[in-house]
Amino acid sequence: VDAANGLKKVVLKGPQGASAEVYLHGAHVTSWKSSAGEELIFVSKKAVFKPPKAIRGGVPVCFPQFGGFGPLQQHGFARNSAFEVVSGSADSVTLALRPDEEQLKLFQHDFLLKVMVTVGADRLEQRLSADNTGSGPLQFTTALHTYYTIDSIHNVRIEGLAGREYLDNLADKRRCTEAAPDVRFAGEVDRIYLDVPGPLRIMDGSSRGAIEVVRENLPDAVVWNPWIDKAAGMPDFGDEEYQTMICLEPAVAGSGPVELAPGATWTGAQVLSLDRLGGSKQL
Ligand code: BG6
Repeated sequence: VDAANGLKKVVLKGPQGASAEVYLHGAHVTSWKSSAGEELIFVSKKAVFKPPKAIRGGVPVCFPQFGGFGPLQQHGFARNSAFEVVSGSADSVTLALRPDEEQLKLFQHDFLLKVMVTVGADRLEQRLSADNTGSGPLQFTTALHTYYTIDSIHNVRIEGLAGREYLDNLADKRRCTEAAPDVRFAGEVDRIYLDVPGPLRIMDGSSRGAIEVVRENLPDAVVWNPWIDKAAGMPDFGDEEYQTMICLEPAVAGSGPVELAPGATWTGAQVLSLDRLGGSKQL
């Protein structure tokens, strides 16, 4: 139990001093520290740790709906729900969620969602599995809505999206093509990059190196920074915090939904690793 907010969390210890923290509320990762002790995940200083509110920052699990397009509230209800611990060890935990009666009324499909989090030396792995435990087909969209802490928004860049098509959430989901060799930030960004192959890399201009994001069955990549005006409008986000965070969210969003037959299982994952030499060729 976290003394600061009374919520249950699991503290994972990886090799060489690496660690991670996962709240049972939302199966929400709120910390990933490298073997050198650096925090790689952003959590807002104004985050509210009061279920059912989702924690601002960390890695909200958006399920069974990404965004506001569908019958559910924005980003689905997994991030607002209490998960149960299924199994665990020093460096890994598996949490599970089944929709309750109220959620079933809204979503009308039964499922079992499992979230496994494993911490390694300079590595964090998050695996989702969704079982269709209902009698009809299960359709869902999803994202691992990862908030990274960065040195400065003015220096950060994301590699791996050049030439890809994206839906621009700031322009009625207009379809655009990424013309830049990498994504940089000079204002609000809210985009769903579609069917992105290969790993993505985040470089923030500091000496920590690059964070490499490898995805399995999460073909889309959402990139988000609220910038000044949206930040000012979010009560659980500091006015200046847009300068030290970005979201890069492996997802099934624009290219979705996943359709799953009764009894079938879908899995998806992100594997994050810190490449200490990978940041040097930047800027
Ligand atoms: C991103 C969306 O994934 O999440 C944005 O693309 C949204 O449009 C952001 O503003 C934050 O959402 P929320 O519900 O956590 O405030």
